Amino acid sequence: MSAVLVTRRLPSAVISKLETGALVDLYTGEGSIPPAELCARLADKDALICLLTDAIDKRVIDAGPNLKIIANVAVGYNNIDVAYGRSRGVVVTNTPDVLTESVANFTWAMILAVTRRLSEGERLVRRGQWKGWALDFMLGSELRGKQLGLVGAGRIARAVAVRAAAFDMRVVFTSRRDHGLPTADAPWEHVSMDRLLNTSDIVSLHVPLTSETRHLIDKRALARMKRSAYLVNTARGPVVDEAALAWALQEHLIAGAALDVYENEPAVHPDLLQMENVLLAPHLGSATTETRTAMADLAVENVLAVLAGRPPLTPVSA
Ligand code: GLV
Repeated sequence: MSAVLVTRRLPSAVISKLETGALVDLYTGEGSIPPAELCARLADKDALICLLTDAIDKRVIDAGPNLKIIANVAVGYNNIDVAYGRSRGVVVTNTPDVLTESVANFTWAMILAVTRRLSEGERLVRRGQWKGWALDFMLGSELRGKQLGLVGAGRIARAVAVRAAAFDMRVVFTSRRDHGLPTADAPWEHVSMDRLLNTSDIVSLHVPLTSETRHLIDKRALARMKRSAYLVNTARGPVVDEAALAWALQEHLIAGAALDVYENEPAVHPDLLQMENVLLAPHLGSATTETRTAMADLAVENVLAVLAGRPPLTPVSA
């Protein structure tokens, strides 16, 4: 039977399914598997199921001479050297679609929370500093009639855009690829990045992390945003230059930010930690029991397919 290394405990039903087609070696230690142990345990494995917190670089791929597939339990796969894997004949898969709705819902939770000052208000209540209802107390801003600017036009961006209708928002998006938008059902306008930044009230990021999107939101981009605008990041931390974001907030160049991802997780830029107008979530975009189970299940299905000589369900391209 083929052997698979799994770097994190997965739901037991999913592991049982994997055991029908492979010998499972499960890492059960605290936190992420240390790189040296990952390499050692890959020596005799045909497949690897890993997480976005596992760095799968050349050294790791070389440590598994029999590897046929690396199945990431995430839609983003910037943690894997896909091109090197391909050169070694290793298939890399991710988990698209199954998390689209939960990430889109979470993006809206962030947009609503930051524009209505929810976490700021909650902190005040918990500190015992709330003095009671007042007409002009902790006023936020409305979404109705405002513009949502989506950077990216993939599945998650579209799911976020669909939900904008419920809040009477206009949607514009920018994307380097032609996704065939807008359609009659999806009246979203394609605009340049600069126009999106200049005119949007909420700028929400939905691009993968690549060499082209690293620090896409830098000082220059932030300086182009409206002073009343909010930045929302549920994509990948390094898409935003965190130091530049802290600077823009200190200079009141934008009204606030809602972040679910960070440049050096789990570290957060110390200045951001001090700011009331910044909502900080601990990378929870896809974190529902249903979605995480579906992600693990899809990774297992990919592994079982490849080990049985069938094509993977959701391969990624380098
Ligand atoms: C989560 O961040 C993912 O890429 O699935």
